[in-house]
Amino acid sequence: MAEIIGSVCTSHVPAIGGALARNQQQTPYWKPFFDGYVKVREWLAKDPPDVVVIIHNDHGLNFFLDKMPTFAVGAAEVYHNADEGWGIPTLAPARGCVDLSWQIVEKAVEDEFDITTCQEALIDHAVELPLALLWPEGRRAGKWPVEIVPICVNTVLAPYPSPRRCYHFGQSLRRAIDAWDDERRVLVIGSGGLSHQLDGERAGHMNKGFDQRFMKSLVDDPKWIMQYSNDELVKQVGTQGIELLSWVVARGVMDATPVREYHSNYHVPISNTATGLQVLEPA
Ligand code: DHB
Ligand code: FE
Repeated sequence: MAEIIGSVCTSHVPAIGGALARNQQQTPYWKPFFDGYVKVREWLAKDPPDVVVIIHNDHGLNFFLDKMPTFAVGAAEVYHNADEGWGIPTLAPARGCVDLSWQIVEKAVEDEFDITTCQEALIDHAVELPLALLWPEGRRAGKWPVEIVPICVNTVLAPYPSPRRCYHFGQSLRRAIDAWDDERRVLVIGSGGLSHQLDGERAGHMNKGFDQRFMKSLVDDPKWIMQYSNDELVKQVGTQGIELLSWVVARGVMDATPVREYHSNYHVPISNTATGLQVLEPA
């Protein structure tokens, strides 16, 4: 049986890619953000995962406003990174864990989730930057030490899946991973958020109080978020802050066992975004 070592939820601002390329991690602007990841890397080094299931949202590389799946599961041998318009350097492709992808696809459909299966997919900053933050040596070597299963949640074109639906989807992912007849160690990553709004009258909107309440709820009251509709959530966290739904899916994956918070960090702002980081491990 596969083993889930825990979850890492993190923001994914494109500017992080620029800072990495310019080696600015220790400048005053970036230090409070990058220093948050040191403890995560120590945690990973103790007992490294083999496979990463990464929940994220696509930013126009794979799906545009004409076609928008609610949940899409990658089932490709390899995922290439492509330029999505932010001018950040292209990072190494990631190898897919095709076996786990199909395990997840089969289970999701059995559990009545109408997913889209992608045997070809590109990956953008929402997948590459978390990998680069967790495995800087992989970024430099141009080769990641893990295989991935990328799982995309629509946070781009309303209507979005509800927090309840996202949580339940995460629980289905967990059933698939637990039933995977393989000894490999699996890390779950939730990529996106926290509060930010990039356009419109409220551009620049952030909400530290809500973000921190949300992060706290994930430790011991993960269903707290379900009291909110997505319209209410967008009011609280901004039109792009709704990316926090990826954290809700990741928390659903961790639901099967009690968890404790190993580490967290919160720093405002990076670019236009309030950035959060949280590691949960089985208690
Ligand atoms: C920013 C944040 C994002 O999540 C994103 O996908 C693009 C830009 C930003 O803060 O600039
Ligand atoms: Fe984003």
